[in-house]
Amino acid sequence: MAPMSATVDLPLLELASDSGETFPVDNPATGETIAEVPRMGAAETRRAIARAEEALPKWRAMLAKDRARILRRWADLMMENEEGLARLLTTEQGKPLAESHTEIAYAASFYEWFGEEGKRVYGDTIPTYAADRRIVVTKDPVGVTVGITPWNFPAAMPTRKSAPALAAGCTMVLKPAEQTPLSALAIAQLGLEAGLPEGVFQIVTGAAEDAPLIGGEMTSNHTVRKLGFTGSTEIGKLLMAQCAKQVKKVSLELGGNAPFIVFDDADLEEAVTGALICKFRNSGQTCISANRILVQDGIYDAFVSRLVDEVSKLKVGNGLEPETKVGPLIEQSAVDKVQRHVGDAIERGGELLLGGEGIGGLFWQPTIVTNVSADAAMSCEETFGPVAGIARFKTEEQAVHAANNTPYGLATYYYTRDMARIWRLSEALEFGIHGINTGLISSEVVPFGGVKESGIGREGSKYGIEEWLEIKYLCMGGV
Ligand code: SIN
Repeated sequence: MAPMSATVDLPLLELASDSGETFPVDNPATGETIAEVPRMGAAETRRAIARAEEALPKWRAMLAKDRARILRRWADLMMENEEGLARLLTTEQGKPLAESHTEIAYAASFYEWFGEEGKRVYGDTIPTYAADRRIVVTKDPVGVTVGITPWNFPAAMPTRKSAPALAAGCTMVLKPAEQTPLSALAIAQLGLEAGLPEGVFQIVTGAAEDAPLIGGEMTSNHTVRKLGFTGSTEIGKLLMAQCAKQVKKVSLELGGNAPFIVFDDADLEEAVTGALICKFRNSGQTCISANRILVQDGIYDAFVSRLVDEVSKLKVGNGLEPETKVGPLIEQSAVDKVQRHVGDAIERGGELLLGGEGIGGLFWQPTIVTNVSADAAMSCEETFGPVAGIARFKTEEQAVHAANNTPYGLATYYYTRDMARIWRLSEALEFGIHGINTGLISSEVVPFGGVKESGIGREGSKYGIEEWLEIKYLCMGGV
């Protein structure tokens, strides 16, 4: 794969829209249009689902180890093309190139991991309840599935969904976000090169206006048995309601509002390093970004002062420039939201210590606001930008109460050296993912997912493949 320059050639997938219309994909760092991608709708999605249905019998009947070989080759091809894929990712999404490299490796790891997990889909025998009967439990692939993925991880979210589905023996039609469809297209192309049969994994693309048509077909088509979605809680609820009409299975990885709690006994430098990565990675545009930094009285001043030192060194710029640590936001509405959150926090008594404004285009100066009130917008909603909002607390009880005071429950982080406190927090905090003395928790080997309004199901790890399997109970009589 050639390194990507200002404009990008579409991968060689058979990709066309009935209308022949396209939509532009823009580089958020420069505003340039880098590709035109087909606008598809319900009819194209329906045909893709029909092809996925046709491909299903052979794919599910294939030995798991043969599917694993293809998935492994796919992961290897991604790593052989790491530089081209990383540049493509930065060009369409904006994150610094080093982060794109990390994301490509993370994305590829799901194909390697789940290919192996597919070999270990074990059933059960159950001690019988009647002398002439025997009971066996098998696990079958769910069938034809669909995925809808967001723009913040344009490579890793498509692979985190498709890898367990395909390893389990399902086929998948996937719609990537309209802002960043190119990485998914390039990855799908590599899948074909790895030996994936036609129809097993297909991409449908569409502009923002096409999303309801594509999503509507995906959730109303009787052939589809499961939807995997990563995105906002608002859209997740809508898709879940649509899927409910046919009782389709769903896995939903939705919004978060992660508390990042620093106790007096924390290792100060580790806490600052963790906050830096957890808050400013991907310009703060991750569902697990620290969104509310809660710091105990005794360490508050030292923590804030060290964080200001470090954040003021972060270089903002085009992700392709080697010095860049914070890239652009994805689009103007994201800049507007950040502006609204910062303004609102200050109006409610917050103190602006650093940044606080846009610096042209989609770039936002890394920002620190202290004394953020619990009712400020940035305490209640995901900011999804490079803004650290900090609040002070006195007791562990207050911290737990503040942390849980949200409808969301994806990730939480806490820094303390007290093991007893760690156990108490791990039990008291209502979140699916706990980063304890660390701000980085993503890996293919872990169960990623949330509780409350942050979603349903887990991705990654041995638990991830279960989401794409159906349990079947066989009762054998007359024994
Ligand atoms: C996400 O923001 O949804 C994914 C973040 C990650 O996997 O690290």
